[in-house]
Amino acid sequence: MAILIICYAMTLRASLARLADMFAYPLRHSHYVELVNPLWTTHALMARVVGVREETADSRTLTLRPGAGWRSHRPGQFVRLGVPIGGQRHTRTYSISSAPDREDGCITVTVKAVPEGRVSERLVRQVRVGEYLPLGEPQGDFVLPESMPVHPLFITGGSGITPIMSMLRNYVQEYEVVPDTVHLHYAPRERDVIFGGELDTLASTQRHYQLFRHYTQDGGARFSAEQLEAACPDWREREVWACGPASLLAAVEAHWQAAGLSHLLHVERFHAPMAAGTDAATAGRVLFAGSATEAQSDGVTNLLRIAEDAGLNPKHGCRMGICHGCDTKLVSGCVRDLRNGALIAEPGDTVQVCVCSAVGDVELAL
Ligand code: FES
Repeated sequence: MAILIICYAMTLRASLARLADMFAYPLRHSHYVELVNPLWTTHALMARVVGVREETADSRTLTLRPGAGWRSHRPGQFVRLGVPIGGQRHTRTYSISSAPDREDGCITVTVKAVPEGRVSERLVRQVRVGEYLPLGEPQGDFVLPESMPVHPLFITGGSGITPIMSMLRNYVQEYEVVPDTVHLHYAPRERDVIFGGELDTLASTQRHYQLFRHYTQDGGARFSAEQLEAACPDWREREVWACGPASLLAAVEAHWQAAGLSHLLHVERFHAPMAAGTDAATAGRVLFAGSATEAQSDGVTNLLRIAEDAGLNPKHGCRMGICHGCDTKLVSGCVRDLRNGALIAEPGDTVQVCVCSAVGDVELAL
């Protein structure tokens, strides 16, 4: 009986929503609901900033209350977060730093301001409690296996700690104990360590969690085979999750590859790995045909950035060649995939503008 009532209520609700959409045409009733409370919308997921916490001089944690339609994340996943800048919406991806299913229903993202990073600067320096930000679905496969037990080795640098923090917090929230875990963390100086106090508390209260901090500034210790051997003699038997700057990840990948153990390594990047620079970079004119907009290219800058600098607001997601949210078609000319140097010159071919640069004059459908 109860199931029948629930089904009837859901059908009635869907019918009322359809009826309301008819009156709201060409918009949807959800667009008007948004005026009352952006978290109630169903056409776009939004989040309200309910807390900000300074972590270090250039990083900050935002506590977000997701609106209707949010589904819980797995520890280690990331979300797209949007901010309006100069009348345009800019989107970036950030790892979720909180454990899933918090009692208050909120999530946290921890953002580090990067030089010339328009979005990260805005999030770290300007966003205030009470603002509403567009939010994406949780994504990514940088996650722990669902079956226990796992004896992880975490290797993190800088803000690469954020997905790992979600995993550690989840261990504590779900199981109250962190399993046998070794964690190497790198930061320029002690004061740059994001979540430094919480990591130390874990290290002193969780007897199976071993934390090794390394400070890299002024010739400090970088990742090395000796350092790894000393901290984690059984590293060959552990599954590894690594996240941090490109140089750290390159060293870690090379080490595991040399040992023939790449299958044990999970890597999360902030940016797509780019091919070495080429002398053949050719400046030119970029025509965004669908937007009737023209811009100049230096042959190196990615086409997404060139479009944004020209005042366009192209669809995009990860900005690192993963999600295909920025795909467009090549109309004429030639572009270079910055990840591997491959040239794309066939009209009608797909171009991921976030990881491609123009080679001379080029015309895109965008
Ligand atoms: S924005 Fe994700 S592939 Fe370009």
